[in-house]
Amino acid sequence: MSNEPSSQSPTDAWKAALASRKTEVADAETLPLTAVSPIDRDLSRRNFIRASFWGGLGITLLGSVGLLLDFLYPRNVKGFGGPVPAGNVKDFPKGGEPKANSEGQFWMANLSPDETRPGGSGGADGLLALWRKCPHLGCTVPWRESFSYEGDAGWYRCPCHGSTYTKAGIRVFGPAPRSMDTMAIEIDAAGNITVQTGSVTPGGANNPERAVQHPLLPA
Ligand code: FES
Repeated sequence: MSNEPSSQSPTDAWKAALASRKTEVADAETLPLTAVSPIDRDLSRRNFIRASFWGGLGITLLGSVGLLLDFLYPRNVKGFGGPVPAGNVKDFPKGGEPKANSEGQFWMANLSPDETRPGGSGGADGLLALWRKCPHLGCTVPWRESFSYEGDAGWYRCPCHGSTYTKAGIRVFGPAPRSMDTMAIEIDAAGNITVQTGSVTPGGANNPERAVQHPLLPA
């Protein structure tokens, strides 16, 4: 056995011990980073990818639905289904025969309350636009000036099943479930008429009350 004294002095040994403790503390400070297990890291990455996928899919679907709605939204509808010009009020003499508008698919007349015959105005006073589509099965209803019914001439008469209507579109005969439908009328200050063919009101007993007045309308 050797009894040789250690070559390290007490001071050197103390410094070495101190350096060793600093290294341990430094290693301990990095522990939280290295303490995350590979499994946890993998789960976290999967959750991120899953969230990204569903988030992206949701945004894409929302965008597609928005584009579809934008495409389907009616803009500047012209012709039937939108506003249709119908001339000027001066073109419609009071109590005159109904005039057909092919573009708007309606009949228009300036009804007179003086036309009290059975097939007449029913007391209506002013412009009335009647959709020519029969409320029964959709046939086009013509105005028949010479058609006689109940001893009176001048009715709307459907050629398909015979539904018959007065000049104000009131049903008096046939299988139609109601009177002829009416369309909204707009008249500007100069008397120019626009019929809103997309604004249809189901026909009813109050059809005569829907007639529209205007100061320039022939009296
Ligand atoms: S479609 Fe007009 S009466 Fe039947």
